[in-house]
Amino acid sequence: MQVLQRMADIGGHKFTIREQLIGGASIDATGEPLPADTVKSCLASDAVMLGAVGGPKWSDPNAAVRPEQGLLRLRAELEVFANLRPVKIFDDMADASPLKRELLVGVDLLVVRELTGGIYFGEKSRSATSASDLCIYEAFEIERIVRVAGRLASARRGKLCSVDKANVLETSRLWRDIASRVTREEFPELQVEHLLVDAAAMHLLSRPADFDVIVTENMFGDILTDEASMLAGSLGMLPSASLGEQSRGLYEPIHGSAPDIAGRGIANPCGMIASTALLLRHSLNLSEEAAQIEQALERTIRDGYRTADIAAGGSAVDTTEMTAAVIRHLD
Ligand SMILES: NC(=O)c1ccc[n+]([C@@H]2O[C@H](COP(=O)([O-])OP(=O)(O)OC[C@H]3O[C@@H](n4cnc5c(N)ncnc54)[C@H](O)[C@@H]3O)[C@@H](O)[C@H]2O)c1
Repeated sequence: MQVLQRMADIGGHKFTIREQLIGGASIDATGEPLPADTVKSCLASDAVMLGAVGGPKWSDPNAAVRPEQGLLRLRAELEVFANLRPVKIFDDMADASPLKRELLVGVDLLVVRELTGGIYFGEKSRSATSASDLCIYEAFEIERIVRVAGRLASARRGKLCSVDKANVLETSRLWRDIASRVTREEFPELQVEHLLVDAAAMHLLSRPADFDVIVTENMFGDILTDEASMLAGSLGMLPSASLGEQSRGLYEPIHGSAPDIAGRGIANPCGMIASTALLLRHSLNLSEEAAQIEQALERTIRDGYRTADIAAGGSAVDTTEMTAAVIRHLD
C-alpha cells in the first residue's frame, strides 16, 4: 500500500482503496471466509490485491468453514481463469538460489497456469478402500488459456511452451490438439514447443533460461510454479496475477501467510511489491509505472538490501526497511 501510494503521488494518480475481510480474519469477525460485502466490493473494483489467507488457528482440514474456501470462491466470483507467475532472476540474486549461477543467467520466464478447471474441481469420491478424483477439461477452457498465453508470448520473446501429459492422459491429448490448433491459427509468429510435464520439470532445472512463456493445466501448473519459484531463491520474491476475460484481476504474492515468522517484522515484501507492479500493468493500464516499481526493486537488490530469507546468513534488513528502500529507489 505504501508503494502504491507513493507511485500515485509520483504519477499524479488517485487510487481509491477499500479494505475488506477474507480468510481466517473474516471467519473470526463474521463466521464466514468470504462475506458478501467483500465480494460486492471486489466486483466493483478495477483490481483486487490479496493478502494470503490461512494459518494454524484455522487449519483443521475437517472444519466446515476454512480460510481457503474464501479464496477459491473469490477466484470464481471474479472469473479469473489464468494465473500468471513471472520468474525473473536478478543477477545480484543468483547466489540465493540452490541452482548454479551459470544456469540462472538470463532467466526470465512466465508460467501461465489454468486456474479454474481440471482435477482440483472434478467430482471426488472416497470409500474405505478406494478414492477417485475426476479430471475434466472442456475445449473452451483450453482455448481461452492458450490464447492468453499466446498473447503474452507475442508481447515478450515470442516463445511458447505448452506442457501436458499427452502420452497418458485423455485430457492432455485434448489439451495438445487445441494448443496446437490455436497457436497455428492465431499465433503463427510464435515458436511453439510441446513438453510432457515430467520432461518440463527436468528442463526447468537444466535449462531454465531457454523458457519464455509456459502454459499448462491446473495441477501441473501448481507444481511447476513452486519448482520455478526456487530458481529465485525464496517464495518471498515472486508475484502473481490472476486474470479473466476482463481487465480486472486478482494480485497476490505466491507465498502463503508464513505463520512460522508471523509478527516478527521480517517477511520479505518483494513478492507483494512486485504484485503491485503487475496490478498497475494488467488492470490499470499503467505499464510505465509498473516498470518503475520493478526497476526500483531491482536497484534495491543491487544495492545489497536483503531480508533474512535471501540474506544467505549475511546481514538482513526487516520488512519496513526493505519497503522504505524500494520507495527511496522509486523517488
Ligand atoms: N494464496 C494464499 O492465500 C495461500 C497460499 C499458500 C499458502 N497459504 C496458507 O498459508 C499458510 C502457511 O502455508 P505454508 O507454510 O505452506 O506456505 P508459506 O508460503 O506461508 O510459507 C512457506 C515458507 O516460506 C516462508 N515464507 C513465505 N513467505 C515469505 C516471505 N514473504 N518472506 C520470508 N519468508 C517467507 C515461510 O516463512 C515458510 O518457511 C497455510 O495456512 C496455507 O494454507 C495461503
